[in-house]
Amino acid sequence: AAEDLIAPSILSADFARLGEEVDNVLAAGADIVHFDVMDNHYVPNLTIGPLICDALRKHGVTAPIDVHLMVKPVDRIVPDFAQAGATYITFHPEASEHVDRTLQLIKSEGCKAGLVFNPATPLDYLKYEIDNIDMVLLMSVNPGFGGQSFIPSAMDKLREARELIDASGRAIRLEIDGGVKVDNIAEVKAAGADTFVSGSGIFGKGQDADPNRYDSIIAKM
Ligand code: DX5
Ligand code: ZN
Repeated sequence: AAEDLIAPSILSADFARLGEEVDNVLAAGADIVHFDVMDNHYVPNLTIGPLICDALRKHGVTAPIDVHLMVKPVDRIVPDFAQAGATYITFHPEASEHVDRTLQLIKSEGCKAGLVFNPATPLDYLKYEIDNIDMVLLMSVNPGFGGQSFIPSAMDKLREARELIDASGRAIRLEIDGGVKVDNIAEVKAAGADTFVSGSGIFGKGQDADPNRYDSIIAKM
């Protein structure tokens, strides 16, 4: 089985001190940086784009950056994120007119590619695209906001996705995103996840951050 990875979602970080926040969670043992891109069109919120990804690289972040695109259209922004230093680029199939083409585009830009499944989206795309992806991202909340509660049906979906990935024999990461915290991470791991996004569970409100508190939270994960 793949090594487990902790992926703090910087959506809940203090954006005025973003470089420092990312340094602190990585120093505390986090493995990859989860980077939520929202466009006020595919989802009802607006966040950060390639300029910020590039700024984190220039700040000195060498950890993988896991770009979760919640944008429509998808393809136009892919080369910009590749240029800005994205490691993974994942997108929602509902947001792309041609899912296979978008996956090929991401890979042709030198990034790892993944599909994101909303709580009500079936895993059917995997039947046709499992050989073309490096990551499956299951949403355990509806995309758009941090701090929502974990939707319990995601547990069965994790088990289903784990079976499909194992049957493929390919090294595909199974990432879970939404409402993951210290108190439920063991349960989502048991259901098959190996990559754990946590925003509010790690950064809290992002105010008056004591860098040491990240150590204690991440150590428990
Ligand atoms: C939601 C984002 C998540 C979000 C998770 O659309 O995809 O990555 O930051 O936040 P928490 O961990 O607070 O549910
Ligand atoms: Zn996300």
